[in-house]
Amino acid sequence: MIISVTSLKGGVGKSTLSQNLAVCFAHAGYKVCIIDVDTNQSTIRWSGLRSEDNPAIPVFGQPDGIELSKNVKILARDYEVIVIDGTPSLNKVTSKIILLADVLLIPILPSGLDMWATEQFMERYQDAVHEKEAPIPAYFILNQFQSNINLAKEVRDVLEDSSIPVFQTTLGTRTAYREAVIKGVGVVEYKDPKAKTELVNLFNELIKYVEVVNN
Ligand SMILES: Nc1ncnc2c1ncn2[C@@H]1O[C@H](COP(=O)(O)OP(=O)(O)OP(=O)(O)O)[C@@H](O)[C@H]1O
Ligand SMILES: [Mg+2]
Repeated sequence: MIISVTSLKGGVGKSTLSQNLAVCFAHAGYKVCIIDVDTNQSTIRWSGLRSEDNPAIPVFGQPDGIELSKNVKILARDYEVIVIDGTPSLNKVTSKIILLADVLLIPILPSGLDMWATEQFMERYQDAVHEKEAPIPAYFILNQFQSNINLAKEVRDVLEDSSIPVFQTTLGTRTAYREAVIKGVGVVEYKDPKAKTELVNLFNELIKYVEVVNN
């Protein structure tokens, strides 16, 4: 199963989400790897900091996206789950990543600017669905979400009106996400119980949708 994590804008949490979900899959006993398509290769660096005491998550760098489809096919022989950590901007590689996805996850920050960016993303997504001539199940995930502010509620309402569903689980703004990356862990392997709980909830929600996709 290929899980692509993409967005239109940079810095919305693609790498954070890719690393943390891969860690959950690894702990759940899946053979999982990550393909880091981001030119800054931050997930490669994260994997270099990972201790041998934690389940192994190989990360393969593919900063140019060339031969991505071919390499994904090769890796799919060995891995049950491949997480693709996408590029910071919407480009041709992003279209490839969307096309390859069995499930597409789109982290988004609750801000007006991100909402506008999403409109362009939707066009790219619709083009990919058209090209693939098959549905590409996709979900928005609200990152750095504060449920107590009006804008957050407005953003959720707008997203829920689009054709892409929104995860019920949201991720809060937590230092644990920033610290976990430099320790080579996921937040489920780290010390903040709130971050751990929300990540477990997110993973369980994803598993529910993935089961739907596989049936
Ligand atoms: N829920 C969160 N709480 C706190 N900090 C977060 C959260 N999610 C992401 N961050 C931080 O925000 C920054 C951007 O996150 P990340 O690198 O995952 O985004 P990205 O979409 O992969 O960026 P890029 O487009 O540059 O690849 C990082 O410093 C990360 O630690
Ligand atoms: Mg990134």
